[in-house]
Amino acid sequence: MHLKIALLGGDGIGPEVLAQSVKCLKAIEETFNHNFELVEAPVGAIAISGTGKPLPDSTLKLCHEADAILFGAIGALEYDNNPEAKVRPEQGLLKLRKELGLFANIRPVKMFQSLIKNSPLKENIVKGTDLVIFRELTGGIYFGEKHINQDGTVASDLCEYSEKEISRIAHMAFKAAKKRKKKLTLVDKANVLESSRLWRKTVTEIGKSYPEVKFECMFIDNAAVQMMLNPSQFDVILTDNMFGDILSDQGSVIIGSVGLLPSASIGANNAMFEPFHGSYPQAKGKNIANPVASIFSTAMLLQHFGLDEEANAIVFAVHESFAKKVVTADILGSSKYGTDYVGDFISEHIVDSDENLNI
Ligand code: IPM
Ligand code: MN
Repeated sequence: MHLKIALLGGDGIGPEVLAQSVKCLKAIEETFNHNFELVEAPVGAIAISGTGKPLPDSTLKLCHEADAILFGAIGALEYDNNPEAKVRPEQGLLKLRKELGLFANIRPVKMFQSLIKNSPLKENIVKGTDLVIFRELTGGIYFGEKHINQDGTVASDLCEYSEKEISRIAHMAFKAAKKRKKKLTLVDKANVLESSRLWRKTVTEIGKSYPEVKFECMFIDNAAVQMMLNPSQFDVILTDNMFGDILSDQGSVIIGSVGLLPSASIGANNAMFEPFHGSYPQAKGKNIANPVASIFSTAMLLQHFGLDEEANAIVFAVHESFAKKVVTADILGSSKYGTDYVGDFISEHIVDSDENLNI
């Protein structure tokens, strides 16, 4: 298969972890006889310093043309500490999502049995966690009208959703649930928010055409608690942009490191794959960042194009690294292995095997 993949390393540790994904893509190319055309482009703070824009036109054009995008991370300390900055790295990512219509953000949270001791939560609570969050990504409070009054003392962000925006991701989430444990939990705040009530009404109606999927609704405050008390009760979680952002980071606590979790952002004509984690500027250039989230995101990319054996080969190699404890310090507290070494180990262990492993 020929795939054109845009590589957007971005800021902080983004380029370092992405480099490990590239090693894996090269190994997949060789082992399975594919042809991946990899093209790099700037985004985020690094793009602002180069062009004044967090998402240069040439980068957006490349992303439109590419079959898929592998994304590193975005964000830099100088912006985090300066709320006044009008041009911000995050705008690059948000614009990319909006322009490419990447409306469904899929974030699997699966416990790795071999790393169960790494979770800060009790083993009996986190054991067997296998859930996936479907977060709406191009609507809601992130993209609603923003306003600040003349003297800067009153500000607002509008949370708006249309039935169409809700139903397209709802269908996707129900279809996923059908293939998994057949349960879907809609997370909202329908006791307070009008937009949440529209979600509840629309998704309840759609649920009727998926009778094999058990459908339930949960308020976000309760869902946050339930996720810590009994994460195994969840299969597919469907939620809006803001709740999904928060809940997915919370979900990463179960696993013990945000450095392990991948995500896919899917639209009608394009798809982008990126780690859960941010740019972790403090670790930039230190060769300590965990490349697994980026490598798993690469596996999700391959899966998206029906390359299941190839995705499996990556997951298998990552499991090998867990088994041999070739992991970065976020996993074991301390480690003699750096980003590069772990990336080499995983890419060198990519083989065509019959294992069937899911992310
Ligand atoms: C994420 C990030 C982004 C978001 C930021 C960087 C804009 O936190 O992908 O979860 O809030 O969506
Ligand atoms: Mn987030």
